[in-house]
Amino acid sequence: MALTQSGSGRDGWSSRTAFILAAIGSAVGLGNLVRFPAEAGANGGGAFVLFYILCIVLIGLPVLLSETLIGRHGQAAAPESFRKVAEQSGKSTAWEHVASLGVLSAFLVLAFYCVLGGWVLYYVGVFAGDLFTTGISGGAFSDMTVAEVEGLFPAMISNGTMTVMLNLVFLAVTVFFVSRGVSGGIEKVAVYLMPAFFVLLLGITIYGLFGGQMGRTLAYLFTFEPERLTGPVMLAAVGQAFFSLSLGVAGMVTYGAYVGRNVNLAGTSAIIAAADTAVALLAGLCIFPIVFAAGLAADGGLGLMFTTLPHAFQEIPGGSLLGLGFFVMVGFAALTSSVALMEVPTAWVSERFRFARPVAAGIVTFSAAVLGALSALSMGVLSGFHPLGFLPMFEGMGVLDTLDTLTGKITMPIGALLTSVFIGWVANKRLVDSENGLDGGLHLFWRFLVCWLCPIALTLILIVGIFPGVL
Ligand code: PHE
Repeated sequence: MALTQSGSGRDGWSSRTAFILAAIGSAVGLGNLVRFPAEAGANGGGAFVLFYILCIVLIGLPVLLSETLIGRHGQAAAPESFRKVAEQSGKSTAWEHVASLGVLSAFLVLAFYCVLGGWVLYYVGVFAGDLFTTGISGGAFSDMTVAEVEGLFPAMISNGTMTVMLNLVFLAVTVFFVSRGVSGGIEKVAVYLMPAFFVLLLGITIYGLFGGQMGRTLAYLFTFEPERLTGPVMLAAVGQAFFSLSLGVAGMVTYGAYVGRNVNLAGTSAIIAAADTAVALLAGLCIFPIVFAAGLAADGGLGLMFTTLPHAFQEIPGGSLLGLGFFVMVGFAALTSSVALMEVPTAWVSERFRFARPVAAGIVTFSAAVLGALSALSMGVLSGFHPLGFLPMFEGMGVLDTLDTLTGKITMPIGALLTSVFIGWVANKRLVDSENGLDGGLHLFWRFLVCWLCPIALTLILIVGIFPGVL
């Protein structure tokens, strides 16, 4: 059974490295591999990338430290941890609802994240099949036209039976690990899959270094043109920073609750943020050379991953093997994130209702499967169903887009905003200082960031998210 380091008799990470890998696993996911390159492409490359890095350091990192700190102090599921900190600070226990909102967000993100995970599985299957039938010489899909390759994605998402089944498979793999607990399940995924992920990412990036258009990619990602740094670009960068670090869904509170008292949270948070940023940048360095080498455009959004890249793999030597490696890597990253997303509601259901962990995980999975099926079908037969379509910001959106917008633009920024206010203004200073592992100037700087910069920046994101016309 677990090597309990948390000192409270609960299951816990068996080492600091296990925690770091699991937290990096949670942070690194479709956000880094799909969303970051898509956002960088849509927002003009260099200006976005450099401002994004600034946001990670000044907004993401302080909130990440706040979340892990609350969790480690509380040693319980997220709402309970918030309640303990509030109680010991002599403040209203109503603050626990910040985490309840986080639990809800994590559940909603889980529901559509696993649909995307299912899509990734489809491409793993397609590339594996191609490799098996045509071998590794030449590009992928040598027997298909470009139009046929580009048609794979629309055909897949409109095939409801298939996407619902793939979603179930992805959820089943996720629940398999979550139901086995933290040290016996979740950290195993991270400890084995994250190193494998890094090897694949580096391998494909090195391929791009020699075979693809690396010079053009570097210029594209890192040329800073100040005039391109507009309001919407800056806000896109802030939003991407905290989605990528898994903030605002109480996920890092939940993971922090399994951390031992001997771990320095500030240093550990810095490692997690640095690794997440490095992966986002490497994802850009890995994807764009291949896309440019095939003569394709960089600004394809979701289509960049599911339409442009398969087409690019069609054009380049060894494309089926490279494509298979690429989608397996994306699948690993998505799995370590979906495990984190499922852990948040599972820990809560299990502790709140005193259910055994497998039962709690089963309940969460069943509910996510139902909502996930509606999301999957919203790209096909249910495309006309717009659940919140009566509100302007959700107009014309199916279930999947509604969940994505509701969480990314509303519930996650609210969660992160209230967390920074809670740590900056509400929680007892001495309690916070005894947990954060900072001193001197860095400590004062962190206080300034959580008290002022984070709340202001997050309020701005919320306003612009809800009223897009104001900028
Ligand atoms: N950070 C993850 C990604 O980049 C997504 C995620 C958000 C995971 C919130 C857990 C919690 O894909």
